[in-house]
Amino acid sequence: MSDILREEIAGEGVLELSIHRPESLNALNIQVLEELRKKLEFIAKEESVRVLILRGAGEKAFVAGADILEMQKMNRSEAARFSRLGHEVCLLLEQMPKVTIAAVHGFALGGGTELALACDFILASEKAQFGLPEVSLGVIPGFGGTIRLSRNLGVARAKELIFSGDRIKADEANQLGLIRKVLSHDGFFDQVRAFATKISGNSLDAIVAGKRLLNEFEESAGIYPKVDAESHRFSSLFETVDQKEGMAAFSEKRSPRFRGMRGSA
Ligand code: HXC
Repeated sequence: MSDILREEIAGEGVLELSIHRPESLNALNIQVLEELRKKLEFIAKEESVRVLILRGAGEKAFVAGADILEMQKMNRSEAARFSRLGHEVCLLLEQMPKVTIAAVHGFALGGGTELALACDFILASEKAQFGLPEVSLGVIPGFGGTIRLSRNLGVARAKELIFSGDRIKADEANQLGLIRKVLSHDGFFDQVRAFATKISGNSLDAIVAGKRLLNEFEESAGIYPKVDAESHRFSSLFETVDQKEGMAAFSEKRSPRFRGMRGSA
């Protein structure tokens, strides 16, 4: 395993796992997701861990999304595989018999917001920013964002965020119910660790019984068919001129000129 994931004991029964690609604002590429999947499978069975804190390395970002430069080279079937890999990671976070906390101190965009949404709680610093900017790249969320956002906020607010691609600050995200709490930026991670350690002192058996039950209520609405539908819609966009233009524009550091008009993807 490379050092792209770094871990630290952050309290009694608390593990802090960092995604460490600060040079690209911790963007999620295939390697990061595969290593995350392996690590989460391990943590799910690791008795010494009761609470997992997930964070990004560096000053600026939790995760600035899926790696656009890697996605730019994908064809439709590769994009579908990529989306399914992200779904596996998110479902592991959502279903593991542990408490999972996303600690967001900076940008959580696209796949970054989606990854955070799969955790039990999102704690954010005042400097955190959230958003689903995929439409500005000619695609849509593909790691479960369409599903978890509409589940948590309702369809109208999910549409507003997904269609606008707007970035919102922590306070607004808190008002919308996207996140659990806004904490001061100074000493942010210490506060997260204290919160995690407090939860870790409770009965994990009882917490997991509660988590399973709440997940079962959610599951009655059937998340599995929905993630497949999302992967299908996401990857179908990789056959459009707009996806090629949107991702080329990002890599060339210019604004995109979208031409797709038919809405046929
Ligand atoms: C690859 C990325 C990246 C990303 C940032 N970088 N985000 N590389 N994929 N998602 C890289 C930049 O290219 C740059 O590299 C370096 O990180 C620093 O970023 P800057 O843009 O110079 O920083 P700044 O001006 O502060 O702007 C920060 C930012 C911006 C607002 C977060 O980087 C940005 O808009 N990033 C893209 C956000 C986004 O669209 N995310 C959604 C992706 S789609 P260099 O080499 O130039 O220093 C997605 C789909 C999920 O997530 C579902 C998939 C199935």
